[in-house]
Amino acid sequence: MNNTKGTAVSENATPLSNLDEWEDDVLRRYPDPASINEDKKVEEFRNYEETEKDGVKEFYRINHKFQTYDFVTQKRDEFLKFDKKEMPIWDAFAFLNQLVDDSDPDTDLDQMQHLLQTSEAIRNDKHPDWMVLVGLIHDMGKTLCLFGEPQWAVVGDTFPVGCAFSDKVVYSDFFKHNPDINDKRFNTELGIYSRHCGLDNVTMSWGHDEYVYHMMKDHIPEPGLYMLRYHSFYSQHREQAYNHLMSEHDHEMFKWVSLFNPYDLYSKNPNQKSWEELKPYYEDLVAKYLPATLKF
Ligand SMILES: [Fe+2]
Ligand SMILES: [Fe+2]
Repeated sequence: MNNTKGTAVSENATPLSNLDEWEDDVLRRYPDPASINEDKKVEEFRNYEETEKDGVKEFYRINHKFQTYDFVTQKRDEFLKFDKKEMPIWDAFAFLNQLVDDSDPDTDLDQMQHLLQTSEAIRNDKHPDWMVLVGLIHDMGKTLCLFGEPQWAVVGDTFPVGCAFSDKVVYSDFFKHNPDINDKRFNTELGIYSRHCGLDNVTMSWGHDEYVYHMMKDHIPEPGLYMLRYHSFYSQHREQAYNHLMSEHDHEMFKWVSLFNPYDLYSKNPNQKSWEELKPYYEDLVAKYLPATLKF
């Protein structure tokens, strides 16, 4: 089956051995400036085409082909009702952990560790407690996998749909397979939008960022919501590819996205405290901002 109304595709929907493979690839593209030294030159890091795994390339081929405006609209209708499941946040974390562990027993950082590394680095730098919470929950949207969603509709760099795709999006060549490029409504610079209309009026490709934003939008301060919603929008926060859609307010808020992003990508503390030690703090933090159960 191959239509814009359904998720099912005839192609292999799991080109990545696990979801972290996409994040590892982002790290290759945007290496930690602090880790670039004489041994590893910038060009070596940037030599992305040569080092990428075939799985990542295949992942982007199907992501760019199937993330159409109609596909995103259908997914928003399906998931933003939040009528699928209700559970305590801790159950959702347990699910996320299992998600990665099942597919790759060798992975050295399970999802919970990644989330804690991110949130603890934010806490150590004395940022507001809601930002620590954002660190903890920013990948909660990966629970989309609970409902059988394919990898290319859960992770990956995000980008606007409904207007021309920027060539600054990773593997932009693959957009030639996306039917929207032949649709006159969508294939101009602005498409269905107006100049500087603001990202809240722009539909983004579907994935864990948009999903967690809607899950949290009544509970977290606005800068935190921007962090959640746009943390994978690399073509904008790294390359300014969509300034024509951004409002002044978006630019202000993207300072927060840029503040958050290095914590997501580069937090790897080998002396991380154990979950048992950290648990009381995080239980209080979650209780301060979030309801006892979350809807999925
Ligand atoms: Fe993420
Ligand atoms: Fe992350």
